[in-house]
Amino acid sequence: MKLKIEPINKELFLADNEIIVSKTDAQGRLTYSNETFIAISGFQEQELLGQQHNIVRHPDMPRGVFNLLWERIKDGKEFNGYIKNIRKDGAFYWVFANVTPSYGCEGQLMGYYSVRRKPSQEALSLIKPLYEKMRVAEQQSGGKEAISASTAILNNMLTEKGVSYDEFVCAL
Ligand SMILES: Cc1cc2nc3c(=O)[nH]c(=O)nc-3n(C[C@H](O)[C@H](O)[C@H](O)COP(=O)(O)O)c2cc1C
Repeated sequence: MKLKIEPINKELFLADNEIIVSKTDAQGRLTYSNETFIAISGFQEQELLGQQHNIVRHPDMPRGVFNLLWERIKDGKEFNGYIKNIRKDGAFYWVFANVTPSYGCEGQLMGYYSVRRKPSQEALSLIKPLYEKMRVAEQQSGGKEAISASTAILNNMLTEKGVSYDEFVCAL
């Protein structure tokens, strides 16, 4: 069962040369965490392995972002995006994540792989208000409509800028 962590207003920062790596099975359960992930997460390795990746989910993150992540990787594509994660003690840290599916020699899905590094503050200054708007839309519409409401905010912003999601996040 997922531990209920109370968020606290304390931010941690990855160093410029640090990379967080994790791998999951095809159901999204952690099968590997590198030392940087273990250190920043505040969990012991044994507390992470076998758990769903939402063990580090921060409540400030819009559901629409994770919906996009899973849509992409289940479709065999990669996902790039900014994610606010929670630490075991409730503190938080932002990452720029790349998530990809992993396949075996016969093309069968083996699991998923994620590599994350420190995001720039300029990128976060655009992402934070966007995610806040998405989250408010999710709270206002609630239930089943939440994801489509926040996805519409993301898509409207992309249409206004005339760019795809990947062009947007990778140019930040
Ligand atoms: C390889 C991989 C890496 C992921 N990394 C994160 C992550 O760093 N933070 C996070 O909150 N969710 C991450 N997720 C998504 C989670 O599986 C989950 O969808 C998300 O935390 C939302 O959880 P919820 O559906 O319980 O709200 C990752 C998923 C995969 C497959």
